[in-house]
Amino acid sequence: MLLPISVHLLVPLPLSLPVPLPGNVLPPTDLKGDERTSLVTELTPKTEYSLTVYAIYPGLIGDSATIITQTPPVPPVSNFRVMEEGLFSLRLAWTPPLGKLEGYKIFIPRSDRPGLTYEQVLRGDTSSHVIDSLEEDKKYTVSIFAIYPQGPSQPVSIVGKTLKLVPVQQLLVQNATTDTVQARWGSVKGATGYRITWSSSEGHRENVNLGETFNFYMIQGLHPGTEYAITINPIFVDIEGPVISIPAKTLESSAVQTLKASAVSTNSAMVSWNSVPGATGYRLAWGPTPEFVGRDRPRQLALNGSTTEHLLKNVVHDTEYVLSLYVLFGSLVGPGVSATFRTCESNVSSFLVKCIFITTLTTSPLSGTRSYHPSYGNTPQSQYLDRSVLFHRIEGLNPETVYIVSIHAVYGNTEGPEISLSQLTASVTESELIQAVKEVKVVDVGINSFILTWKRTPGVTGYKISWSPFHGGDEKSQLVSSSTTSFTIPKLQESSAYKIQVASMVGGREGSPFLVTARTLDLPKVNGFAALNTTDSSTSLNWIRVAEASGYLLSWRHISGQRSKHSQSHQAVTPAQPITSGCDTSTDDHIRL
Ligand SMILES: *[C@@H]1O[C@H](CO)[C@@H](O)[C@H](O)[C@H]1NC(C)=O
Ligand SMILES: *[C@@H]1O[C@H](CO)[C@@H](O)[C@H](O)[C@H]1NC(C)=O
Ligand SMILES: *[C@@H]1O[C@H](CO)[C@@H](O)[C@H](O)[C@H]1NC(C)=O
Ligand SMILES: *[C@@H]1O[C@H](CO)[C@@H](O)[C@H](O)[C@H]1NC(C)=O
Repeated sequence: MLLPISVHLLVPLPLSLPVPLPGNVLPPTDLKGDERTSLVTELTPKTEYSLTVYAIYPGLIGDSATIITQTPPVPPVSNFRVMEEGLFSLRLAWTPPLGKLEGYKIFIPRSDRPGLTYEQVLRGDTSSHVIDSLEEDKKYTVSIFAIYPQGPSQPVSIVGKTLKLVPVQQLLVQNATTDTVQARWGSVKGATGYRITWSSSEGHRENVNLGETFNFYMIQGLHPGTEYAITINPIFVDIEGPVISIPAKTLESSAVQTLKASAVSTNSAMVSWNSVPGATGYRLAWGPTPEFVGRDRPRQLALNGSTTEHLLKNVVHDTEYVLSLYVLFGSLVGPGVSATFRTCESNVSSFLVKCIFITTLTTSPLSGTRSYHPSYGNTPQSQYLDRSVLFHRIEGLNPETVYIVSIHAVYGNTEGPEISLSQLTASVTESELIQAVKEVKVVDVGINSFILTWKRTPGVTGYKISWSPFHGGDEKSQLVSSSTTSFTIPKLQESSAYKIQVASMVGGREGSPFLVTARTLDLPKVNGFAALNTTDSSTSLNWIRVAEASGYLLSWRHISGQRSKHSQSHQAVTPAQPITSGCDTSTDDHIRL
């Protein structure tokens, strides 16, 4: 086989040239006889070439072989994009192509914005550029091409839009409390920050500048029940965006002051409370107290802001319940209060005391999160007492603290009057020095007097009893001997509240006083009123003699309220001597004394 001694590669100038002149070729490249590849450089991009190769033998030239091929175009800029839209500018960026570059040309075609010319030649090592002095809220087509030693690449275009100077959308002011409101807004594209101001009608004005990441701010330190104007505007570097304003009002008060259960029966109770201004709703939770767990399940209910009472139905008889009421301000949970009540033992047809309940109130501070369960903590515990109990001791109290204890008697479905007593517990240190008197009780309340009793205190030389009108006035006092354990306070005003203190004495020194309050009666009440024996047409009634009374007025009426009858008797009827009167046989009569 004959091997070539060399190979000639002939590369003519581009075929696209109008007249391919003879000899219009690049200098031929001589290759060794055993070479198989060859790199041809310095061609023009995107141009058609014909390449010819022939072998040379000693004294002979072989046949030529020719191929036609096209050089690719120079690569364009890739990933040309708008990095940032400004009010008056566009920041552009791109990825540099491979290969040796002389630079770039970036421009806004004249046809896109008549009147605007923009053209900038950039160095080959740049990869971003800001076009400024544009107009607000306008679309621009921006083009770029890379410049190579061989010529320019194809241009690449994108469309960018400058920002509009817009106000904040959807400014909301929510969850007002007595001293805070929360502002919430939709973020504004391109804003570098926000300014919030708040001003009250009294001219108090404050503001805060917030970064671009904010879309929520809690305004604090406001005055309760005050109207504020809240404004916000976006900031674009050093340009203030348009301002919008909305009014907001802080709450006047956010606590329920009273919560009580009334009309307690075997299976229902009416719960009522005072309405709280600004409350969007209430959440009422109820369930058995720890002692009665298992007799009923805890339940809860959402009520709207205009509700101030709710009838609890289907509660279990002879069970103590704890009620908790939470005030809702939107989804913010306000303070809660608790109270207890006890359902009656059984359905009764007489006026005998069937159940008694003690109510205590407690409030808890405002909090953002809470589960709605009847709460039975952090308060002096409520206790349920059987009707046979006439004495009760509350243990585990804190020293030097005033406790308010109320007691109700319940007569069938009727709630008796509430009697309250406030009591200051003794201080620890003083009682160490002189033992404080214990168990001071107002055992009898008269129109003009109280009878007090207390427990004998060891090691004292006497007791000092002092009393004064509850709402201020002269204090009177009396010393009694150490053997005395009761005292009658005389000469009091009727229907008046008094503060009473009993202190133990050692020589001339006084121990810490035991404070009780009591109120004199306005008129004596009939006690022990009961129906003894009821037949189809009569009922026998019984009550305890009232010492000062000159007679009794007995009245009765049909429960429907129609066909009422009244006895106007003023004669002194002897109690415990049954009275019989004709009743309607078909329904219960309602008798009042
Ligand atoms: C609140 O609730 C009560 C009882 O469910 C209803 O009668 C009353 O119409 C409600 N009020 C409003 C303003 O929705
Ligand atoms: C504020 O109120 C809104 C609507 O009433 C509620 O969606 C949001 O969770 C509340 N924020 C807080 C912190 O309670
Ligand atoms: C009391 O009477 C009501 C109504 O008649 C009834 O629903 C309830 O079950 C009774 N309670 C008891 C403990 O007997
Ligand atoms: C109740 O009254 C009826 C009729 O007057 C009498 O027969 C009965 O003995 C009385 N019962 C009692 C417990 O007093």
